[in-house]
Amino acid sequence: MPEAVPVTRPVPQAASGPLVRLNSLKRYFDVSPPWLARVLEGKPRAIVQAVDGVDIEIARGETFSLVGESGCGKSTVARLVVGLYPATQGGIEFDGMDMSVRRGSADNSAIRRRMQMIFQDPYASLNPRWRVFDIIAEPIRAFGLAASKDEIKQRVDGLLRQVRLTPADGAKFPHEFSGGQRQRISIARALASRPEFLVCDEPTSALDVSVQAQILNLMMELQRDYGLTYLFISHNLAVVYHISTRVGVMYLGRLVEVAATDTLFRRPRHPYTRMLLDTIPDLEMTGRRRMPVAGEVPSPINPPTGCAFHPRCPFANDRCKKERPELLAAEGTRVACHAVEEGRLPAEERSYAGH
Ligand SMILES: Nc1ncnc2c1ncn2[C@@H]1O[C@H](COP(=O)(O)OP(=O)(O)O)[C@@H](O)[C@H]1O
Ligand code: SF4
Ligand SMILES: [Mg+2]
Repeated sequence: MPEAVPVTRPVPQAASGPLVRLNSLKRYFDVSPPWLARVLEGKPRAIVQAVDGVDIEIARGETFSLVGESGCGKSTVARLVVGLYPATQGGIEFDGMDMSVRRGSADNSAIRRRMQMIFQDPYASLNPRWRVFDIIAEPIRAFGLAASKDEIKQRVDGLLRQVRLTPADGAKFPHEFSGGQRQRISIARALASRPEFLVCDEPTSALDVSVQAQILNLMMELQRDYGLTYLFISHNLAVVYHISTRVGVMYLGRLVEVAATDTLFRRPRHPYTRMLLDTIPDLEMTGRRRMPVAGEVPSPINPPTGCAFHPRCPFANDRCKKERPELLAAEGTRVACHAVEEGRLPAEERSYAGH
């Protein structure tokens, strides 16, 4: 039985310091061909370096977003953080507690209650055979957060209203709702355990643009009301611009730039960040030549040597091909780029205004 926890929101124990800290986090996947094929056909082992040393601190109440093209390791970070994958190396701290030590322990259940995940696909993440009421009530029951059936009903009705559904919707099944409404159900379920931290992996990517805005507004409102902290994952920079406090740009399993949202969009430093920004339509950005989006993300099985971005980078030189750049502090941001460090890539002012 999971231990019962008080129904009132607990005050975080260490109210100072980051809520979440990722320390040199790595996750590799062994995707080698079967042993026999390796022996008979001489095929080599293949290891995907999905997340290859990521350091992030997420402050209480902020929205930290991860952006990057598909395959950069964003979802793997999300899954590591909520404990769906164990780390290959490195660690995760939540409110000062080391998550790897606590996995499987009684304390673990208490931490799990405090962090929840919202997935991209609300069709796949809701049990189709359960009524919405039971989908939302399940975490309340599992964590022992209500003393009676009446109290569970009150909580579920309140959660449905909070996400702009009605208590009557509780009697229905997920298939009776639109995509946006299903994502509202996922959010209500995620909030049911009164978490402090939500990991949102492309929560609006499967939705129509108009519905996306509604869900993002709801998420921001809930954040204000409950002081929630978000790790928000998206490949859509326009969405990230609106919702984030800070942004981390990922490329092939590593962070290449971390900055406050406004700084990142107005003074992007890393060539990859600049390239990503050039893909957003922006009426204000006239007069400056856009960097074409050259090439594709290379395989994370044999990532390029040195700076993994060098095959696509217009500023690459010999050093870039040999030496991997570290994420270094640069004028209030952190950037992993030799050209920035050497001062041969001056900052560039932009006027992105979220169009
Ligand atoms: N369970 C897995 N087994 C093998 N490879 C995986 C697994 N999950 C992710 N990968 C690989 O890890 C890399 C990063 O994937 P992912 O974290 O899903 O990236 P993103 O969310 O940024 O698109 C990709 O090359 C992907 O194919
Ligand atoms: S380190 Fe070199 S290759 Fe990598 S982004 Fe900077 S300039 Fe480009
Ligand atoms: Mg993903």
